[in-house]
Amino acid sequence: MKFSLQSLFNSSVNSRSLSRRNILKILGNLFGFLCVAFLSWSIWRFITFHICRTKDVLFQSKPREGEVSLINGVYLISNHGRLIAFSAKCTHLGCTINYSAEKKLFCCPCHGSIFDIKGNRVSGPASHSLEKFAYEVKKNGSVLVKKSL
Ligand code: FES
Repeated sequence: MKFSLQSLFNSSVNSRSLSRRNILKILGNLFGFLCVAFLSWSIWRFITFHICRTKDVLFQSKPREGEVSLINGVYLISNHGRLIAFSAKCTHLGCTINYSAEKKLFCCPCHGSIFDIKGNRVSGPASHSLEKFAYEVKKNGSVLVKKSL
């Protein structure tokens, strides 16, 4: 009788510890799976960040030589026969830059950064040039700019 009670007690303890062990194992596996899933998702978002976050901006026609067009935060300029598309957002703190036709420069009204006709930084607190965008000239003469967001 004593032997059977002890064996019953021991088997009860063993099954309880096994059960706890199994639960911890399942929780550990679940935690590991969630960590791997989160890490995979983060890497995927990092890789596809610029690919997925673009917006098409359509200019109905190519600008004439020296002409500057602005649509939806994108400047499109024809300079010496070449088109240049870049962001109207200042690289300092993001204000919208204005074009000065007399000076042929882009000036930021917030802190005075100045950019040349190609979007290169000339002076001011902005540390780098304006963000340039890829574009495609369509057969009908319109220009499709891929604006990154
Ligand atoms: S936001 Fe343009 S210079 Fe500061």
